[in-house]
Amino acid sequence: MTNVKKACEGFITFQEAKEMSKEDAISLQKEFQNHERVKLAEQLGAAQQFVGAGENGVELFDSEGNRHLDFIGGVGVMTVGSCNKHVWNAIEQAKDIPAIHALAVRPMSAVLANNIAKLTGGNLKKVWFGTSGSEACEAAIKISKMAFKGCRHKFVSVYNGYHGKTTGSISLSREKWALHQSPLMPGVKTVPLNDIDALDYALKYEDVAAFFIEPVQGEGGIHVATDEYLKAARELCTKYGTLMVCDEIQCGLGRTGKMWAFQHAGIEPDLVVFAKGVSGGYMPLSGYICTEKLWNDAYGTPETAFHHTVTYGNNILSCSAGIAALEYLLENDLFDAAVEKGEYMLGKLNAIQKENQDVIKEVRGKGLMIGIEFHTPKEENSEAFAAVVAATLMNKYRIQTLFSINNPVVVRALPPLAVTYEQMDEFLTSFGSAIDDAREHMKA
Ligand SMILES: Cc1ncc(COP(=O)(O)O)c(C=O)c1O
Repeated sequence: MTNVKKACEGFITFQEAKEMSKEDAISLQKEFQNHERVKLAEQLGAAQQFVGAGENGVELFDSEGNRHLDFIGGVGVMTVGSCNKHVWNAIEQAKDIPAIHALAVRPMSAVLANNIAKLTGGNLKKVWFGTSGSEACEAAIKISKMAFKGCRHKFVSVYNGYHGKTTGSISLSREKWALHQSPLMPGVKTVPLNDIDALDYALKYEDVAAFFIEPVQGEGGIHVATDEYLKAARELCTKYGTLMVCDEIQCGLGRTGKMWAFQHAGIEPDLVVFAKGVSGGYMPLSGYICTEKLWNDAYGTPETAFHHTVTYGNNILSCSAGIAALEYLLENDLFDAAVEKGEYMLGKLNAIQKENQDVIKEVRGKGLMIGIEFHTPKEENSEAFAAVVAATLMNKYRIQTLFSINNPVVVRALPPLAVTYEQMDEFLTSFGSAIDDAREHMKA
């Protein structure tokens, strides 16, 4: 066997990677990856190296032996908690199944598609799998155009929304990420959230292929679409022949108390995009579920059937993890738990808001998807205040949270759904103290 060190100078083996110190890993990240991202992580005190997790995956341990509580869960990825044994066990068992090519039979992806369809119900039935959320949003754009066979290519999305950072998904998202990307996808309009007249106006010319909405906006700072709005939006999409696409990448998979957040409104979109929590956070996995009609309109012939395939779609390990993650959520009644725990958190956070109205503008959310918006007497200090709260939580109280990058006045809580009441209380107490600390810090 060739010695890898001789074959390639500077090559680092897997074993060495596993034993690498935090400092060495940071220096490699700086040299070979996004050094500005590492700089920000260092400034916030977020550059920790986690090496293990506790029983429900909310407690995390870093390389220096510190204990942390995870209240951001990879921004909604870790619905089942870090290092979930049930999910890991499924991946282990699937590791000996060879992945040959797209035409080989793949029971794991077929079963995951079945399970997602059964948990969704109604007419949503056909499932496509990819790897990232942005890719799944691109796939939703693509199927919409395919279904209209070139007759409609306009899109409407919601102001302040976020659908990813690839060209199509940026086109539907907040302008912030469109730097030097012009020309973007043409024919995209944004409408304000929960403004049904604006949506009517945008759709009434009957030339819009699809309306994209996050039922609970995540990156935009946790803004909830009302049930009335979702119902009216569904009716308008049907009236004007526009496809309704719900982006459930952050709010889906049980986080708000139902499989999908739109289900609270009793509606059925034409397509639902998912990613993040679908694999339990272990493996890259995303996709969409759509109606059989939409699928057949777009890809239902031998000529069109191969118009959107991707190499890593239907990946055996990802889909195995996906089946196990859903099993874990159902076996532990975590959809219902998300409702109860969300109400508990929102109730307590609203009480904290009442006592701190000078700095907390609003607490919003649904289930375990919660945002706390800060404002300060000097408006320009609000972002700094939110950043100090998040950094204090992370460094002093060792609670992982993040402010919203698209709306930095909002600090978010998206813990794993198995979070305990004790852990929530620890978060709430630390949160109250972090506000006092931030007030002192901003005075100084
Ligand atoms: C609602 C929503 N859509 C799309 C995306 C993009 O997903 P990804 O980062 O996997 O490309 C995100 C990511 O945060 C998201 O929250």
